[in-house]
Amino acid sequence: MNIIELKNINKFYGEGNNRVHVLKNIDLCIEKGDFVAIIGQSGSGKSTMMNIIGCLDVPSSGSYKINGVEVGQMDKDQLAELRCKTFGFIFQRYNLLSNLKAVDNAALPAVYMGLDAKMRRRRSIKLLRSLELGDRLNNKPNELSGGQQQRVSIARALMNGGEIILADEPTGALDSKSGERVMEIIKDLHQQGHTIILVTHDSHIAAQASRIIEIKDGEIVADTRKSSQIYTSDVTPECPRKSRWDTLKYSFIESLGMSVYAILSNKMRSLLTMLGIIIGIASVVSVVALGNATQQKIMEQINSMGTNTIDIMPGTGFGDRRSGRIKTLKVSDSDYLGKMSFIDNATPNVSISGNLVYGNYTLTATLRGVGSQYFDVKGKKIAQGRIFTDEEVRNISSVVVIDDNTRKEIFENNPNPVGEILIFNKKPLKIIGVTEPDNSPGPMSETMNLWTPYTTAMYKINGSNDINSITVKVSDNINSQVAEESIENVLTTLHGKKDFFMINTDSIKQTVETTTNMMKLLIAGIAVISLIVGGIGVMNIMLVSVTERTREIGIRMAIGAKQADILQQFLIEAILICILGGFIGVMLSLFIGWAFNTFSEDFGMIFSTTSIILALGCSTAIGIIFGYMPARNASNLNPIDALASE
Ligand SMILES: Nc1ncnc2c1ncn2[C@@H]1O[C@H](COP(=O)(O)OP(=O)(O)O)[C@@H](O)[C@H]1O
Ligand SMILES: [Mg+2]
Repeated sequence: MNIIELKNINKFYGEGNNRVHVLKNIDLCIEKGDFVAIIGQSGSGKSTMMNIIGCLDVPSSGSYKINGVEVGQMDKDQLAELRCKTFGFIFQRYNLLSNLKAVDNAALPAVYMGLDAKMRRRRSIKLLRSLELGDRLNNKPNELSGGQQQRVSIARALMNGGEIILADEPTGALDSKSGERVMEIIKDLHQQGHTIILVTHDSHIAAQASRIIEIKDGEIVADTRKSSQIYTSDVTPECPRKSRWDTLKYSFIESLGMSVYAILSNKMRSLLTMLGIIIGIASVVSVVALGNATQQKIMEQINSMGTNTIDIMPGTGFGDRRSGRIKTLKVSDSDYLGKMSFIDNATPNVSISGNLVYGNYTLTATLRGVGSQYFDVKGKKIAQGRIFTDEEVRNISSVVVIDDNTRKEIFENNPNPVGEILIFNKKPLKIIGVTEPDNSPGPMSETMNLWTPYTTAMYKINGSNDINSITVKVSDNINSQVAEESIENVLTTLHGKKDFFMINTDSIKQTVETTTNMMKLLIAGIAVISLIVGGIGVMNIMLVSVTERTREIGIRMAIGAKQADILQQFLIEAILICILGGFIGVMLSLFIGWAFNTFSEDFGMIFSTTSIILALGCSTAIGIIFGYMPARNASNLNPIDALASE
């Protein structure tokens, strides 16, 4: 039975004038279990024929059948499968992977077969022992002699069965003693049932085969059979059927290991490559954390101004220097607004500076006249006593609520001064309540505040009905923007002109939010640019890595790696670099945050898990995007070209 049938095979290299006809109308059939030597001078086309038989190269024309199946019809994955399961290659220069131990080199083809690690190792050790390499299992190729390396490569060829052994000048690089040993092994394999195709230029070696085919200038010139010994026993080792999932899993683990090795063996290069990613990720995460902190701080301060409230002030705006003097707002404005449907309440505010006296202790202070709703609107909580009632406002009662700063200043150790009398501008005021200490930091934290009914402030203390501002609480279901416009219309009509301005806490909040978000976005944008630059760095290094390891790729393909396996290997390496960079970036940014929080007391960076997860996701994506092109280049390499590269 013919296991190999070549019909009318031609092979050309080059184009136009440089075109050389290397194989000319080759017709050749090889029986299963035969031992064939192909002999010829250097340059006669032996290796070219061998590579076509081993599916590493394709003929320019003609038909090639293995076990009756036309190879020309097969796709790249099916060819890889043939190389993996049917062929076992023995090269003149061994072609072992220099970074793997003997045992792992021999076991490599089984990775692409989907065999689990334990079984791979067991079979590899068994093969190496049978080739008298039991004491060299853990040596790398550069620690082995040529003969030993060639025996490791024989073990590798047998790993998945090696039904057809293709040996291209297997003794060419060996001393005669090692060469003899290798030939003995090959003869042994023939007797075990392997089909052997051996290429040589040495007639003594060829003489050991059963059939000798002589090739000259790309043509078969002689075909002699010396012995009819054909051994057809089955040599395929029992291999538990593996699911596609197992194959994927083992090739993934193998790729991961190779990637870690590649990164570690070029530590400095890997670190420099990661630097772009590290800086990018660290800045994104830190900027977002800093932005969050700023936003939260500002929001705290705005919230202490009250929610859904609008403050109406005289003048044209904050910069108006006259606003302290001009008195365009009246109590009647406040009363009018208070009656409107969309307003919960409106209270006039008066502030009076003057002398505050308690016993023989005198200081200057500012007294604010407010409505009873003021505390509610501004979110001030009472610690002692109570706030004043509407009745007390109407009755112009001489009562005052003080804040904790004032209590500390005047009463020091007395936590509950309710009932004490203070004298403000010679008018007595009875303390009825103390507010809770205000913990929000900032410029307001040291200010002393005293609040009295606005009626008391206006009529009893000031003696005029001038007011400084009006605080309006808008009903909860009303849009504060709409309310602001309505108030503006009403007051403009009442006054005949717009002689006031409004501060709307909601719109301040929105402004702050949009501004900080814009800032975050802007700086994050810059960081993204740095990430892209980092990604390009990764791509560059991966391209270098692919070029450096072209030969390795060729070897892997020759022993059965599919395109997807190669793609996966380089993609994983790129992703690993990026994830590692991302991880270091996050750590760096957490460290910056920690240092920042240690040195700054009332302001800390706020890290969100979302931004960290996003950052890591981002670096993975960069690995995939920028790693894909080099990885695809690698997987698209032609096995024979890759093998030929130095
Ligand atoms: N990739 C290639 N491009 C161009 N010419 C090639 C290539 N590979 C081999 N050749 C040519 O084909 C001929 C046969 O090469 P080869 O099969 O390697 O010979 P052998 O193995 O018998 O020494 C040689 O003349 C060689 O120069
Ligand atoms: Mg050759």
